Amino acid sequence: MREIIKQILNQAVLAPSGDNSQPWKFKLKDNGVFVYIVFGADDSFYNFEERGSYIGIGALIENIKILAGVTGFETAIKLFPEENISGLIAEVTFLPSDKRDSNQAKQIPLRVTNRKPYLSKSIPPEDLNILLNVPRENNIKKYFILEDPVAIKALSSTLNLNERLILENKKIHDGLFKYIRWSKTDEDKTKNGMYIKTLELAPLQEKAFKLFRNWQIINFLNHFGVSKMVSKDSAKLYASTPAYGIIATAGLSEDQLILAGRFFQRVWLTGTGLGLSMQPVAAILFLAQRINGGDTSEFLPKQMDLIKNAENKIRQIFSLSSDEIPIMIFRLGYADPPSAGSIKRSPVIIGNI
Ligand SMILES: Cc1cc2nc3c(=O)[nH]c(=O)nc-3n(C[C@H](O)[C@H](O)[C@H](O)COP(=O)(O)O)c2cc1C
Repeated sequence: MREIIKQILNQAVLAPSGDNSQPWKFKLKDNGVFVYIVFGADDSFYNFEERGSYIGIGALIENIKILAGVTGFETAIKLFPEENISGLIAEVTFLPSDKRDSNQAKQIPLRVTNRKPYLSKSIPPEDLNILLNVPRENNIKKYFILEDPVAIKALSSTLNLNERLILENKKIHDGLFKYIRWSKTDEDKTKNGMYIKTLELAPLQEKAFKLFRNWQIINFLNHFGVSKMVSKDSAKLYASTPAYGIIATAGLSEDQLILAGRFFQRVWLTGTGLGLSMQPVAAILFLAQRINGGDTSEFLPKQMDLIKNAENKIRQIFSLSSDEIPIMIFRLGYADPPSAGSIKRSPVIIGNI
């Protein structure tokens, strides 16, 4: 049984995570597995109160459930089974079952973040319908796919604020560049982070990006409007994307974020099965959450205004009510396959029970 569980974990860890930080580890038991968060594994400025990590762990747990289903097991998932054990997120127990469902499992190794430009081709209504009918937990207050070109244009000029802030705010800058892997050898050493080729930069952009990792240089270049030029380029990419999805929850507690992560993974795997490409573009939402959570110390007043305005605009574009909290926005469409994939670490098993 433990061998089966290990095999399931080998594939489950292909789940997405903020900055490809893979913030999880495991303890095996006779008929299941305990999932732990690794606090600080993603210490980028976006991961306010580990919220991105909880979403990623949700995706991982969904993978475990799906993969168990193929092997002939149902799962009982208990979130935070023992509150006094720090970092223990879930106890997943495997129970024998007659049902076998391999549809979504096949998509797990195929799912990737695709940051390429997307074709202008729209999604056929029947596929959109499949995507919109992915079963969702009760805490998912809003799940919507935006296709209106006017609204998408408006959205583009809020999402691209992230690229500007990466180059104008040292905390965001340093936090992101820490996770860029400049070569395969570099990536192989750490087994995490984002390989430069997955960012899909044009050759000149890639050269410039290498230069921008030095804060002094980019800080100087910003006197000549470089950050704004870069962000203008991103707006073009965002505006040419034919559809965007949004997921909003009823709250931001750990269990709500984990459930949202599970749902997001189901949507992503369903999209993958339909031949669709996806890219989370959640950065502005996470920055807004940091400010809303009262952590304003690293922002200039002007930057806070820009982020708050962007958040309000996003709320308007997706007609969110005050009790709907946006936790994920993603690009959706058809594209060539990504130029490169992200490395994944083998499951870290910290013990047996
Ligand atoms: C909570 C969360 C937030 C993310 N935010 C972004 C984002 O803002 N921009 C982006 O390009 N990718 C984002 N990603 C995608 C990750 O960078 C990606 O999953 C990771 O690098 C691993 O690559 P893979 O998805 O191809 O396995 C996010 C992923 C998660 C789980």
